[in-house]
Formats: sequence, structure tokens, C-alpha cells
Amino acid sequence: MNDYRDLRIALLGCGSVGSQVARLLLEQGDELAARVGARLRLIGIAVRDIDAPRDVELPRELFTTDAERLVLGADIVIELMGGIEPARSLILRAIEGGADVVTGNKALIAEHGPELAEAAEQVGAQLSYEAAVAGAIPIIRPLRESLAGDHITRVLGIVNGSTNYILDRMDRFGDSAEDAMRVASELGYLEADPTLDVEGYDAAQKATILASIAFHTEVPVDAVHREGITGVTSAQIEAAQHAGYVIKLLAIAERLVAADGTAGVSARVYPALISREHPLAAVHGGKNAVFVEAEAAGELMFYGAGAGGLETASAVLGDVVSAARRHVIGGPGVPGSSHADLAVLPIGEVNTRYQVMLDVRDEPGVLATIAGLLAQHGVSAASVEQSVAADGEAGTARLVIGTHTAREADLAATVEALRANAVVTGVASVLRLEGAR
Ligand code: NDP
Ligand code: HSE
Repeated sequence: MNDYRDLRIALLGCGSVGSQVARLLLEQGDELAARVGARLRLIGIAVRDIDAPRDVELPRELFTTDAERLVLGADIVIELMGGIEPARSLILRAIEGGADVVTGNKALIAEHGPELAEAAEQVGAQLSYEAAVAGAIPIIRPLRESLAGDHITRVLGIVNGSTNYILDRMDRFGDSAEDAMRVASELGYLEADPTLDVEGYDAAQKATILASIAFHTEVPVDAVHREGITGVTSAQIEAAQHAGYVIKLLAIAERLVAADGTAGVSARVYPALISREHPLAAVHGGKNAVFVEAEAAGELMFYGAGAGGLETASAVLGDVVSAARRHVIGGPGVPGSSHADLAVLPIGEVNTRYQVMLDVRDEPGVLATIAGLLAQHGVSAASVEQSVAADGEAGTARLVIGTHTAREADLAATVEALRANAVVTGVASVLRLEGAR
């Protein structure tokens, strides 16, 4: 057997993900040592309650409630506790002590990523967080390293599995929003606070991380435009199906040029239409996928499990192996990159296509009035379909208007003008159409 040196690994948290990471570190010790060139020795696991039942059986002597002490003796600290504090302070303490840090904590990286990256850079430590976006799917390393020589133009992600599950049930099985949500909840797919999923907060955290890495720019989480799925109705799902689209909650990071010529980025989360021909339309159930468009590489898609203890542990261990190899080889960690420092543009600057559903008076001249309002705001219709209004109200019709690419601010002004016009009895839905131009 090779006489490997030891690297001391401290694990903070032993829940769904941490317990699987601990098991794999212990069970695959010899193989990991051969891959790394050093033995990954788990020196302790910090938890709140040493006697709490665990998903896997682990040596009791590894457990401690003294996380602060544990991190000081480690070469690599794996943080899988979740939340902001004490995770943030423990990571800073670990970095100050010279340790590399691996975390899956999307909330922490979204809120404090730049602070932690700067602390790591100052001491040459490595900060890695592959598991923070889309669970098992390798996407952080591909963006940071594999595509480092390319120019990314757009990232479209289905990065929240529970909302994808809900929308997929509504689309494929005709569930109401309430029924789909109940099933997702019964299956344990939703966060303890489901608003994090259904109102798009979880996806916004991931959008921040993706946008920051893809565009070498700090994108604060509160600069991400966020709309959840709670407003998505069965009528919208049906209209989408009729037009050859599917509704997905998308996290979008995009390079943009504002109306005044400012080069910037947009980060946003909302339920959007995509063509059923688009690869993201085939992402069903609770699965995640990230679709990347780059100038040289073209279109790439990364697909897989966005959550799950074992699946996420795979991404965590990949980061641990990478950090451990650096210890063996020597040299500083790869620093974070925010050199481009682009402006983070507001939602009004986004250019995309739209589908607008209107209830209108069914009488002569109505179409001309609506066409005039669109033209006044510089919005061009690509298609118009008329049917009898869904509620069957006499004398009204439903119009579904698909637009060519328009500026969000212009579209919003158009919708206001439509709402205010007497021929329009209601604006039933406004959805963006993504993945096409
Ligand atoms: P769990 O809630 O299952 O586990 C959290 C663990 O952290 C528990 O063992 C808990 O201890 C411990 N812990 C919490 N607070 C403290 C504290 N103050 N001091 C010491 N220990 C503490 O979380 P998950 O495993 O699901 O998630 C871990 C991280 O991974 C999170 O950041 C999450 O966002 C991220 N992640 C999770 C995914 C998943 O599928 N679960 C997917 C992608 C990322 P005790 O057991 O004693 O209560
Ligand atoms: N709540 C998240 C989801 C868990 O539904 O995808 C993984 O981050």
C-alpha cells in the first residue's frame, strides 16, 4: 500500500448531504487516496445534536458540537450546515487558518460569495461550491474553467427541482396548481419554507451565482429580478400547449446592451414560455438543467439531479478531491473573477419575446385599435389568434398575441395602455418567451 500523507478533512453538518459525504469519504478512502495522492482523513463532524439519528451509520467518536475548534485543525473544511450564520463565520475562520473550503450553501454564496472569495484569495486558499447550483450537475467548474477561454452570452437554467416538478405535473398530467403543489409537498420536494421555492428565491440565489461566474461580475442577489410560479394558471398552461410551448421557471443570466449603449448583464427568474423543441422543454419532474450559450462553443446543456443527499454529495466530493490535489501539488487556489465589472441592468432593459392574452370586445375595429397601441410603443406582433373568450361572455373574444423581440420597458408600457383602453376587458396573461430570438 502506498504511504500517503494525510489531509485532514473537517465536516460541518451531517444531514441529507453531509451524512453521504462522510460515508463516501470513509468507504472510498483507498480509492480517493490513489486519485489524490494523499489520504483524506475525516477528523470530525460538527453537528448540533450528537445523539440525533443519522441517515447512515458513522463512528460516534467523529461527532462534536465544537465546530469552531474542529475547523482550526483542518486542511479542508466542508460546510454542509446551511444558513448564513454560523456557516459564514466558520468558513472565514477556516480560511484564516489556511484551510480550503468546500460548501453547498447557495444562500451563503449568493449573499456573501464576494466576501468569502476575497478572504480566500488573500491567503491563497481555494473556495469551491459546485453543489450550490443544480446539485449533482457540474456547472460551476465548466463555467469557471472549461469555458474560461470563451465568451458566454446567455445562461438559461432550470435550477429549482420542486417548481419544475409542479409545472411539469400541470403540463403533463393536467394537475391544478394546488394539486401539483400538494404532491410535491407530500414527496418532500419543497424546502421547509416552500416560498423559497415557489416564489423563486432559491432560483434567484442560483441565478446570482451563475451570472457572477459567467460574466466575471459581482451580481448581488437583490439585483436579480424575481417572479415565482404562484401566478401560473391552468389557462396559461393550456394556451402554452396550444401554441407549442411549455412553461418553465427559468433562472436567466444574460449579457445585454442597454438602450443608452451601456454594456451590462441581466439576472432574472420568472416562469417563461419555451418552445417544445428546445432542449430545456424535455427536462421533466424534479430534474435540473443549465443551457449555456457561448460565442465559440455554441450551445451546451448540463442536465441531471438538482438535489438529493447522495447526488449532491458527488459534487461536494469532486470539489474536495480538487482541493486536495492542490494541497499535494502546492500553489494558491484559483481566485474568484470579477474583473469585467459590468453594470447589472434592470428588467426594463431586457429584450425578449412575449405572449399577451387579452379579453377584448368582439366588434369591428378592435384589432386595429390594439395593433395601433402596439405600434405606438414600438412593439411588433408576430402572431395574433382570436377565439371566443374562455368564460364565454357574450360579445367578448380572447386574443393571444405573440410579439417579436421587444424591450421589456416598451412591452410593459404597451400592456398598461392596453389595460386602460375601453376595447380591452381584461389582460389575462403576459408571459415572456425565452430560448428564441
Ligand atoms: P440538513 O438540514 O439535512 O442538515 C444540516 C446539518 O447541519 C445537520 O446535521 C445539522 O445538525 C447541522 N447544523 C445545522 N446548524 C448547525 C450549527 N449551528 N452547528 C452545527 N451543526 C449545524 O441540510 P442538507 O444536508 O439538506 O443541506 C446542506 C447544505 O447543502 C445546505 O446549504 C443546502 O442548501 C445545500 N444543498 C442541499 C441539497 C439537498 O438536496 N439537500 C442540494 C444542494 C445543496 P443536526 O443534525 O445535529 O441538527
Ligand atoms: N429546493 C431546491 C430545489 C433544492 O427544489 O431544487 C436544491 O437546491
